[in-house]
Amino acid sequence: MIVTSGSSNPTFAKDLARLMGVEYKAARIGHFPDGELHITVPRDKETILVQSLALNPNEYMMELLLMLDYLESKGSEVTAVIPYLAYARQDEEFHSGEAISFHTIAKLLQHYCDNAIMIDVHLHRIGNIKKMLPKAVNVSVMPLIGEYLKRHVKFQNPVVIGPDEESEQWAKQIANILNCDHDIFIKKRFSSTKVAEMEPKSLNLKGRDVVIIDDIISTGGTIANAVKIAKKHGAKKISVACAHGLFVGGAVGKIKPYVSNILSTDTVPGKYSKIRAAPAVANYLKKRK
Ligand code: R5P
Repeated sequence: MIVTSGSSNPTFAKDLARLMGVEYKAARIGHFPDGELHITVPRDKETILVQSLALNPNEYMMELLLMLDYLESKGSEVTAVIPYLAYARQDEEFHSGEAISFHTIAKLLQHYCDNAIMIDVHLHRIGNIKKMLPKAVNVSVMPLIGEYLKRHVKFQNPVVIGPDEESEQWAKQIANILNCDHDIFIKKRFSSTKVAEMEPKSLNLKGRDVVIIDDIISTGGTIANAVKIAKKHGAKKISVACAHGLFVGGAVGKIKPYVSNILSTDTVPGKYSKIRAAPAVANYLKKRK
């Protein structure tokens, strides 16, 4: 067995290889003068192919498809590890005429390699990855985030908050590890004269250290808003954490001045990707054997 990768996240791939005790072999990835990809793919009887699809999703997706198709054609038993699955957020035709990218991506993966391991896929409306990719597995890095926070951040009377209802599952998991309360923000106080405002569903945040957890931080809008609400409700020290830190569109500038910590796992490489995510995949692979 070997681990190889596309160009999106070799650090994750090397970490996974180390944890699995197998060799990491780099693919040679270049371009023809017209921009087409030219890839030379290492392989073994079993090949774990790591490719995250963040920040340059179209190029990375094409790398993934070329590599998968080649490996399958050579009879290698392939497991695709996709630390960040792009295109999952458009899972509906929200406005008439919009292409539903999650369907397209799922069909492509299903065709080229249905044996895929992903991490905290955005499944707000779908619920279960099996509905889209029956053989795929969705592992969670939320326990790793919880353990990291427990070891590296000092809290006083902490509470873990999800910025919306979907994120309650993660707030609860992390709160269990930190042995503290959790809550979510919900819209309250509808009236004809007052615009709905987000508020904590049930807890008082006054004087407490707050951790805000989400699956993705992209433009930072959701988290920045949650930070504002937490501050308004008297939160003391605020830390924000996510599985996938894309941090595009000036996200960090919107958050940094108001928080003590910004943390992400390394499903997407970057300055704030301090939490290793490969152990979640290695644990799953070791159990699968
Ligand atoms: C939304 O459903 C997701 O869970 C995240 O809250 C969202 O993708 C974050 O995006 P942004 O950082 O652009 O607000």
